[in-house]
Formats: sequence, C-alpha cells, structure tokens
Amino acid sequence: MAKIKVKTAKEIEHIRDAGALVAETLIRAGEMCKPGVCTLEIDEFIGDFTRKHKAVSACMGYHGYPRYACISINEVVCHGIPDAKTILKDGDIVNIDITSILNGYHGDASMMFCVGKVSSIARELVDTAKFCMEEGIRAAGERGARWNDIGNVIQDIADEHGFSVVEDYCGHGIGTGFHEEPTVLHCRNNYLTKFIEVGNVFTVEPMINVGRPGTKTLSDGWTAVTRDGSLSAQWEHTVAKTKDGIEILTLPR
Ligand code: MF3
Ligand code: CO
Ligand code: CO
Repeated sequence: MAKIKVKTAKEIEHIRDAGALVAETLIRAGEMCKPGVCTLEIDEFIGDFTRKHKAVSACMGYHGYPRYACISINEVVCHGIPDAKTILKDGDIVNIDITSILNGYHGDASMMFCVGKVSSIARELVDTAKFCMEEGIRAAGERGARWNDIGNVIQDIADEHGFSVVEDYCGHGIGTGFHEEPTVLHCRNNYLTKFIEVGNVFTVEPMINVGRPGTKTLSDGWTAVTRDGSLSAQWEHTVAKTKDGIEILTLPR
C-alpha cells in the first residue's frame, strides 16, 4: 500500500479553503430542495457557483462522470446523476455530494436534505447517519485513534437503531488527489489498525441503510441503490487529524 500522506499546515489551509467553498455551495444547493425542482437545475447551480468562485468540480469527467455533483434520493446510496427527469417530491430524502478543487486542492462533503414532510423512519435514518459521521470523526480525533476505530464506532450506532452500514463505498484520503490513501471503512473492521497521524487528511462519509447493506449499480454505470430498495442516507466531511484532536475542513465561513 502506498504511504498515507502527512500534510503541512499550508496544504491543510488550501484544503480548508476548498472545503469552505464546498460547504457554502452545499447550503445554497440545499435551499433549492423543494417539491417540483429537478436535480439537473440544482447541479447547474452547483457548476455555476463553483466556477464563479474560481474552483473546478472534481466530479465532472472523473472516470467519465457526466455532472458537477452527485444527487442521491431515497434508495439511491450514492453517485446519483442529476437529471431533468428526476424531480423532487414531498417526502424525499436527498443527499447532495460536492467535491471542488480550489488552487489544486480538493474539498469533499455531502449533506442530507428533507423535501417537505418526511416519514418518521426517514427522519430517524437521516439523523442517525449524521450522528454516525459525527461520532466517526470524534473517534478519529481521540489520542491514539486507529483507522478502524472510525468504522467500529459507526457500526455500533447503526446497530443500535437496527440500521446497516454500506460496505461497498468508503471514505478516503484527500488533498491534491480526489481519492488518496487510505481507504476508510465505515463498518466494523480490522482492515487498517495503524494509528491515524497528525497531518493525515481524509473523509468520513458513512452510508446507512434502513434494510440490508447490499448495493447494486444501475445500467448508467454510476447510480448505486440498495439491493432491497430500502432508504439510504449519507453525510460527509473532510477532516484533518491535529495535535489536539481533529479539525473539520468542510465548514462554511
Ligand atoms: N464525492 C464522492 C466521494 O465522496 C465521489 C464522487 S465520484 C463521482 O468520494 F464521479 F461520482 F462524482
Ligand atoms: Co468522499
Ligand atoms: Co463526496
């Protein structure tokens, strides 16, 4: 396995700048999540806003991905492709995942948005997925934290709610590259038991399902859905391990 990079304060500053832009873009995109709005309209806004701030979408063209962002609704786990025919409706839970490159550095984050009034199970899922992300980040910030502590903490929370953790998609190191070492698992694991080092920068982005963890990819080659058709929710931040804990780099300013 290639070495996990330790970033300098200057590099982290660049990632924080990209991250702040991503956060501000996400908040504005979230305000557009109303019944009757198509996901292509939201994606066009994301592309325009990113360009206006001298940044570039990392997703557009990435392994042939055709849009600026991923917008994943209900049973879509991740990598939903924005589309004029995909129209938001009351009760939908929507993940918007944005990765922007500013001055050569990536910021990557996603949030869930609820359209109108959602079911109580949808609300519980969205809130639990957020808590899973927050606790995964908190665990990574503890002194002596190991990479697999993140997934172990997240799995415990999902289990308590009777939800499952998606195993097919993971978090990742990030910096000048979109997906750097290491792969960050969100489920219980012994995959990487090394210590997280000060200066490591990575994402925590658990996908939590109401039903079974299995996913499949649709014929468009991107859209990942739950195999059992159950609801899925995801939240993501880019974070840096620091000498006193952890810093979230994808916060608005
Ligand atoms: N933003 C996603 C992640 O969190 C990756 C999307 S890749 C794309 O890693 F090509 F689908 F956009
Ligand atoms: Co990511
Ligand atoms: Co992302």
